Amino acid sequence: MKMQKHLYLLSSLFVSLIVFSSCSQKAKEPFIDPFNYSIVKKVEAENAAVVSAHPLASEVGKQILIKGGNAIDASIAMQYALAVVFPNAGNIGGGGFMVLHDKYGNSHTIDFREKAPLAAHKDMFLDEDGNAVATISQDGHLSVGVPGTVGGLFLAHRKFGKLPMKELIEPSIKLAREGFAITEMEAKGLERVANDFRKYSTIPSAFIKEEKWQAGDILVQEDLANTLQRICDEGEAGFYEGETADLIVAEMARGGGIITLDDLKNYKPVEREPVQFSYKEYDIVSMGLPSSGGVLLQQMFGMLEVYPIKEFGFQSVEAVQLMVEISRRAFADRTEHMGDPDFVSVPLDKLLDREYILQRIIDFTPGKPTPSSAVKGGLMQLQEKEETTHLSVVDEEGNAVSVTTTINGLYGSRVVVGGAGFILNNEMDDFSAKPGAPNLFGLLGTESNAIEPEKRMLSTMTPTIVLKDKKPFLVLGTPGGSTILTSVFQAIINIIEFDLSVEDAINKPKFHHQWQPDLIYIEEGFSETVKNSLEEMGYEFKRRSPIGQTEIIMISDKGIEAVGDKRGDDSAAGY
Ligand code: DON
Repeated sequence: MKMQKHLYLLSSLFVSLIVFSSCSQKAKEPFIDPFNYSIVKKVEAENAAVVSAHPLASEVGKQILIKGGNAIDASIAMQYALAVVFPNAGNIGGGGFMVLHDKYGNSHTIDFREKAPLAAHKDMFLDEDGNAVATISQDGHLSVGVPGTVGGLFLAHRKFGKLPMKELIEPSIKLAREGFAITEMEAKGLERVANDFRKYSTIPSAFIKEEKWQAGDILVQEDLANTLQRICDEGEAGFYEGETADLIVAEMARGGGIITLDDLKNYKPVEREPVQFSYKEYDIVSMGLPSSGGVLLQQMFGMLEVYPIKEFGFQSVEAVQLMVEISRRAFADRTEHMGDPDFVSVPLDKLLDREYILQRIIDFTPGKPTPSSAVKGGLMQLQEKEETTHLSVVDEEGNAVSVTTTINGLYGSRVVVGGAGFILNNEMDDFSAKPGAPNLFGLLGTESNAIEPEKRMLSTMTPTIVLKDKKPFLVLGTPGGSTILTSVFQAIINIIEFDLSVEDAINKPKFHHQWQPDLIYIEEGFSETVKNSLEEMGYEFKRRSPIGQTEIIMISDKGIEAVGDKRGDDSAAGY
């Protein structure tokens, strides 16, 4: 009997050794209770810190750092964790950008933006009359770009990681398989799109539930756990080939999508030159094309530099007017000139030329709006259905990592890969379906951002690192579509010019202008007095939902401060 028990134990150990030969789902280290956790908005740390859109993802990052992983390892582990605990934007079915400043003082960026499938074509979102149809570019199988996240994380790991990849994925496998309690915000989000999941997914997924989703409900994602397990066991091939690739292609076939096995196998992330520029005593490192983020940020700070913004004061009439006029001009350039640099030639030398940037703002007159029609034309409505996520990490060694990833809209295309458990992006909508047709964020585009097979769609994601004395000072970024730039621009200015605390820099009401429509969008709580003064000058305003979920880590003489945005479940951790 005793022997039999022994044999049984041995054989089950053998089975589990085979099944989990390279990856186990045991989380050996202490881990906060996924069924009972709280949000921590601000952490002051001595050694290292992380901040992300979800407390469990931040905890995973912190544990990796404590284990001896570096900031790149932690950011990879957090990205996998976000794919589990923050399904509305965290992802393996989307893409993104990583900006890294390493301990040797070098900056790097990794582009793992999605690509158009091989069968995509310029007019794929136009009806017979040649009109752009937002429902097909934004929802369902045709809206999906070839996902880049997994490829990007592997490239980052090969180049800069320290711990074995399996240790970075294991915590997420456990969270997916054993489940975690969802927050109130997640419950609301899942309820909001419940019908879309039914409509666009061809096979029911873990996100579909008969009763209403409520805070505290346990979300178990077996299919996702198995997908993560395959990635853990087989590397990138566990996603881009074999069973996962087959499941993606089968989902496409059932739903009328066009992604093929070749699309998946061909996907390659790219290391690109960072955008780097100085503003006063700071050096700013950000993402270049195919994100417009870094280029626009450089233009915006370039225009700002000649004005005494500090004297104007935080959200004074003068400061808001100037920043609005700067944004208007930068966004007009985005529309006109930008696209995937592997496909179109973008006149970056000109766009980033100091003289050109100063010329752009020369016609700005304090007290008077420059109508957008005088800068360029077009009209559109800004919709509010947006999801992306940002995470920032700094480690003990001196590495800083800023990562923004996206599936574009809230829960992306609302297509969950049948049997694989993850949500696919609707990033194809970031292309310009037709010149003059606004995308989900009201952004316009031209030929430079037209759809072509294997091209990357233009992004606004702006993961950024601000250096002071050549060392990381601010590590920041945010979701928010076109408002990403606004949030990053304002957060940096709030800290370095207006001396706001990191919390205030993030949480104070924001304003946004993107050239077209010619409106200043404002969040709840924006000063009525400032609004009235600008209205008297001729500016038009529109109230809108919260702008962004900014995550900032600040490293100063006082130590490390990591702060998550009050607008979401954002949470910091550190030690
Ligand atoms: O890449 C882009 O610019 C957009 N797909 C980002 C979408 C986004 O930020 C939505 N977030 N809330």
